[in-house]
Amino acid sequence: MADEVLRLDKVCKAYNIGMPSETEVLHDIDLRLEKSEFLALMGPSGSGKSTLLNIVGLLDRPTSGRLTIKGQDTGLLGDTAITRLRGHTIGFIFQDHHLISAFTALENVMMPMLVDRGFPSADITRRASDLMARVGLSKVAGNLAMNMSGGQQQRVAVARALAMNPDLVLADEPTGNLDSKSADSVFELMRQVNRESGTSFLIVTHNLDLARRCDRIIDVVDGRITGTAADGVPESDARETVMRVPGDSIANGTDGVSGSELHPASP
Ligand SMILES: Nc1ncnc2c1ncn2[C@@H]1O[C@H](COP(=O)(O)OP(=O)(O)O)[C@@H](O)[C@H]1O
Ligand SMILES: [Mg+2]
Repeated sequence: MADEVLRLDKVCKAYNIGMPSETEVLHDIDLRLEKSEFLALMGPSGSGKSTLLNIVGLLDRPTSGRLTIKGQDTGLLGDTAITRLRGHTIGFIFQDHHLISAFTALENVMMPMLVDRGFPSADITRRASDLMARVGLSKVAGNLAMNMSGGQQQRVAVARALAMNPDLVLADEPTGNLDSKSADSVFELMRQVNRESGTSFLIVTHNLDLARRCDRIIDVVDGRITGTAADGVPESDARETVMRVPGDSIANGTDGVSGSELHPASP
């Protein structure tokens, strides 16, 4: 299907194959993600969420089953083609921002483009600056990553994930280290990118409040998908959240939606 970004058919992953400690961590995972979908992946610690993200992100290979990305059966690709597909198709956001602390925010965002070597250097600077504006951080683009707040660092990580204009962004507990206001703001930033650019997102989160604002929730327990809760995310709720977000919350660099707009005042 043309608009299918991702498809997993009976994907299994085992570690320590052939050893007494061999364990299968993912069992028969079937999953599809369409262009512009924004999915939450939930489940207890150790259930296999990060393993699944690593496989989808082409950082690790399935033991069996088929992983198709934008119509390409990745099992047929060699390492060079995999690296290229990953670089041009997938952006990553981690719980710890994984920025290079001693580099400026702008330099961090330039990094994936410098590594790719497919861009003229003037374009790289301009594109990185545009991305910094997009995440509301133009004014602090020259600051060292280590001197930024956790929320700002995660916004830079979002900008870096978008550097190569990926079809799919994978985020492993991207708001796990943030206070609730920053978590909300970073989440809304990703949601806005998703709406504006049609970038698909697959986000691991333990935050049910944020997961409910995704298009679908996938539950992983003991390496199996136990439920896809489109039914658990009322369509009206998702739409309502979209409607309430001010369109200029990124451009003006504010934190966007205030807590009180999203959560009714407690009695
Ligand atoms: N490299 C590895 N070698 C062996 N076991 C691993 C490896 N990575 C993860 N595991 C095991 O796989 C299971 C799932 O881990 P993980 O995907 O990190 O779970 P989650 O992200 O849901 O917390 C855990 O039991 C973990 O110990
Ligand atoms: Mg994990």
